Amino acid sequence: MEKNSATLNTIQREWWKEAIIYQIYPRSFKDGNGDGIGDLNGIITKLPYLKALGVDVLWLSPCFKSPNADNGYDVSDYEDIMDEFGTMADFDNLLHEVHELGMKLILDLVVNHSSDEHRWFKEARKSKDNPYREFYIWRDEPNDWISFFSGSAWTLDPLTRQYYLHLFVAKQPDLNWENPALRQEIYKMMRFWLDKGVDGFRMDVIPFLSKDTTFADFPAGRKNDLTYYANGPKIHEYLQEMNAEVLSRYDCLTVGEGFGVNAGQANLYVGKNRHELQMIYHFDHAVPRGEEHFITPAPEFNVVQLKAIFSKWDTALGDDGWQNIYWGNHDNPRVLSRFGDVGAYRIESAKMLATLLLTLRGTPSIYQGDELGMTNCPFENIQEYDDIQVKNAYQSLVLGQKKDASTFIKACNQIARDHARTPMQWTDAENAGFTEGKKSWLKLNPNYRYINAAQAQNDPNSVYHYCRVLIQFRKDNPVLVYGNYEDLLPDDPYLWAFRRSLEGFSLMIVANFCGEIQPFPLLSLVERTSLLIGNYNGEGIKDALRPYEVRVLSCWE
Ligand code: NOJ
Ligand code: CA
Repeated sequence: MEKNSATLNTIQREWWKEAIIYQIYPRSFKDGNGDGIGDLNGIITKLPYLKALGVDVLWLSPCFKSPNADNGYDVSDYEDIMDEFGTMADFDNLLHEVHELGMKLILDLVVNHSSDEHRWFKEARKSKDNPYREFYIWRDEPNDWISFFSGSAWTLDPLTRQYYLHLFVAKQPDLNWENPALRQEIYKMMRFWLDKGVDGFRMDVIPFLSKDTTFADFPAGRKNDLTYYANGPKIHEYLQEMNAEVLSRYDCLTVGEGFGVNAGQANLYVGKNRHELQMIYHFDHAVPRGEEHFITPAPEFNVVQLKAIFSKWDTALGDDGWQNIYWGNHDNPRVLSRFGDVGAYRIESAKMLATLLLTLRGTPSIYQGDELGMTNCPFENIQEYDDIQVKNAYQSLVLGQKKDASTFIKACNQIARDHARTPMQWTDAENAGFTEGKKSWLKLNPNYRYINAAQAQNDPNSVYHYCRVLIQFRKDNPVLVYGNYEDLLPDDPYLWAFRRSLEGFSLMIVANFCGEIQPFPLLSLVERTSLLIGNYNGEGIKDALRPYEVRVLSCWE
């Protein structure tokens, strides 16, 4: 097809806008030594698989030393590797191999909090005048803030009889960004990794770094509103300092986890002249997972709401900022179980969702296993879950408040993070080829017998091969990166149809979000279209879309 390369002279190209990110949750990707836990050497064996898929940047969820209260999001040494994952030599080897294959590697920067087993915290809790005391946040009295993982956000430390703040579990004390010495330690650590050749960072709950240091109770109307912790008074000062001292000195990719940031605030973080981050990802379509949702999950978004969310963000960022587009990650259940059909139309709906991911405006992130059409896992009881959030919610709701256990498990089967954390399904052999050992650290989804990478690689109609083709298509068509986004049918309850255009060249993407044939009014309005990519064989019905059908069309009006 015709490429719109003429326009590329007029736009400022950025490799991080053109890149496709693939998220690896190391614990669940590939076990290299048979202990049932994924590790760095395991990842190395699968690099050819990732290269063949066509992704450019691998994001590793935390691989640093950690007691694993929150699976690595509790770091006890930022400059060392988690025992289960290997050694620094293994890491260096992984980085080398990734680069050899022409890909990049970004790490997870978890600096809102550390582990309570970090040397800094062990020192800090020794006495009120310890040099590390001010690396954390201490108060004589707690306020009414709550932890994301149930209970108060403050824990009394018995020795010095003060409370320390932890927005997550007690083993994740919040770092005190007011303290310049702490900030310098973090910047030094970031340079350590960038100097090794790491290509950037995904930044964990980055809008939370700055706190309102009066630590007043939640303001009226926002009681228990966890987004209240975001966008503190000095957040932009800190990010600009981090940018000046570290990020601007490297050609690296930065993506902030934008929890609590609304569309109107986004460009304060990612606007071109802000000198903070390149992109963030928002939570507007993430699964709400406050404690109450473990009894009563929020209703899932419908397609009208989804379109409104994506339009709002696209408009808000405009030509100034940039976002990271995702359907799933290690904090959300599987997208296919949310918006697709895990039964008869599993393949079609997985391809439809992949098409949107790779054609919306923003840098896409594929979450491991979504390229195979992996689904939520049927966990049967609390013992089968691993996630600290689930365990703490169970403690609070079922054991504490005596809520019905089966209602709780039912809710978990819809919203829990562990659905995305079950091991990658590589083959139909025992343990899905994830481990050679006897048992994987978390239950395997029994559907690995038919959903697995070996099957997908051998099947030309697989979701995997479709993603591969689409990834290449995106690389060949800069309109999908730089073109503007226009929602063509914002009110249609079943279809998502949009146009991406760049200086006279446009592509139209039309998707049916339901399991029935839907009439598609726009096809007859556009004089001439030609099908470039679709998830069904053949041209299909002229003025209608089949169940979960998606088409990428070039169009002339
Ligand atoms: C966001 C991470 O993605 C999540 O997995 C983690 O539990 C919290 N931040 C705390 O680090
Ligand atoms: Ca292992």
